[in-house]
Amino acid sequence: MKRRALAVSVLLSGLLLVHTHVALAQETRRATLTIRAGEPGPQISRHLYGHFAEHLGRCIYDGLWVGPGSKIPNTRGIRNDVVQALRKIKIPNLRWPGGCFADQYHWQDGVGAAEKRPRRVNIHWGGVVEDNSFGTNEFLDFCEQIGADPYVAANVGSGSPQEMADWIEYMTFGGDSDLARLRQASGRRDPWKVPFLGIGNENWGCGGRMTHEYYSDLYRRFSVYARDWSGNRLERIAAGPGGTDLRWLDVLAERVKEGVQGISMHYYTLGNTWKDKLPATGFPEKDWYAVLRDALKIDGLLTDAEKIMEKHDPGGRVGLYVDEWGTWYSAAPGTNPAFLNQQNTIRDAVVAGATFNIFHRHARRVKMANIAQLVNVLQALILTEGDKIVLTPTYHVFDMYQVHHDATFLPVDVATDNSVLGPDSLPAVSAAASRDAQGLLHLSLVNLDPKVAATVEARIEGPALRSVSGRVLTAPAMDAHNTFAAPDRVQPAAFTGASLQGPVLKVALPPRSVVVLALSS
Ligand code: AHR
Repeated sequence: MKRRALAVSVLLSGLLLVHTHVALAQETRRATLTIRAGEPGPQISRHLYGHFAEHLGRCIYDGLWVGPGSKIPNTRGIRNDVVQALRKIKIPNLRWPGGCFADQYHWQDGVGAAEKRPRRVNIHWGGVVEDNSFGTNEFLDFCEQIGADPYVAANVGSGSPQEMADWIEYMTFGGDSDLARLRQASGRRDPWKVPFLGIGNENWGCGGRMTHEYYSDLYRRFSVYARDWSGNRLERIAAGPGGTDLRWLDVLAERVKEGVQGISMHYYTLGNTWKDKLPATGFPEKDWYAVLRDALKIDGLLTDAEKIMEKHDPGGRVGLYVDEWGTWYSAAPGTNPAFLNQQNTIRDAVVAGATFNIFHRHARRVKMANIAQLVNVLQALILTEGDKIVLTPTYHVFDMYQVHHDATFLPVDVATDNSVLGPDSLPAVSAAASRDAQGLLHLSLVNLDPKVAATVEARIEGPALRSVSGRVLTAPAMDAHNTFAAPDRVQPAAFTGASLQGPVLKVALPPRSVVVLALSS
């Protein structure tokens, strides 16, 4: 009797389950877009697709530097597989050596014969010994190999203006000074071009725990000694606020009016608190919502930051550089927590796509952004293990979004359903459009819903378009990711879910997906 009751209840719940699945399969979110292709906006700087590599965990060592004696194929110590992957996505710039590490770094430690370089303790990241085998020449060689502009962060917290000035001279001076001779003795005859110089990093925190006013005044002093030599033109970037402390920005922008081309801002997506970080994989659906909701907050933060900058710099001369952004979860099980190593899932790809769509809308003031970090740390593009590498879902978004580099922003009005989970809700669809130098229109769409598909109907104003093609990145589970055993589980595929009917584009977006379309006449 008992057994029969159980069987009936299993049957009933089975039916219920089937029914729910059918309902879910039919459910779809809707979004209506107007792409105002006849109203071009600012250029979307390719530097919004910039990167960051710090002496932290396995980012530099193992991640991109194995040393010239390694069995792992390398060119002058730099991994060939990493160079090849990064060249493919045309990374525009690379920020180095930190992060917090920048304000403890003394550049002279990392030049000259490798075996004579001092061994120092990396005070911020696990107290490991830094042997300085990757220094200035190696970094600038790496930038040349991948074709990226160097963005060097100078030490303000424990350094001096003289030390910074010497570094700039070592790298960029073409005349016959002692520092230029030192560079030449290290094997580099011609000066490098170094277009970006950060003056400090998070100086309200790990960069010296300074007050707003003190750092602003120090910046004025340091920037005087940051000189342009031999045709090199530095963009000088002041260390701006982290998170939501916009008073730091207000004081800085008010006090620093000369010798500054940019002010940075950092924003990390946690979905929870710094003390209690969320897991990168194996998470419940509510974590998906928490992380995406947190990621989208950068939109309002940029709007507030822009208002402050507009007040002090109405012409928009000084750029806002989001030179650290990305997801930050608890460290991968079994790894050193100070190394900030985490897996990267389709959720991170959705965060990246939605974040880029936001950056585009702020392209008038936001001139650069650098995801944290390049390899093996936080929202990494690449993971390495011995001689193997894995390209993460985030890497694939950078690949797909290349079409927006230096393209012209086209405004998109979006009316979208929300994705809802209990008290949580998110706009289901995010969109951004641009026109490239060849006249191609590109539309990037993100379905933020972890479970439900979306249909998008877009009316395109401006010249008639006739053909559409594209690529999609999606995955069967919310936390799907690539591993060394299965490196291709999440990767872009040709997209067939878009059709054009006159000026109307219809797109069927799978759940948890990023789609980039090319439209031509
Ligand atoms: O990216 C990791 C750390 O986050 C950086 O070193 C620091 O600038 C920020 O707090």
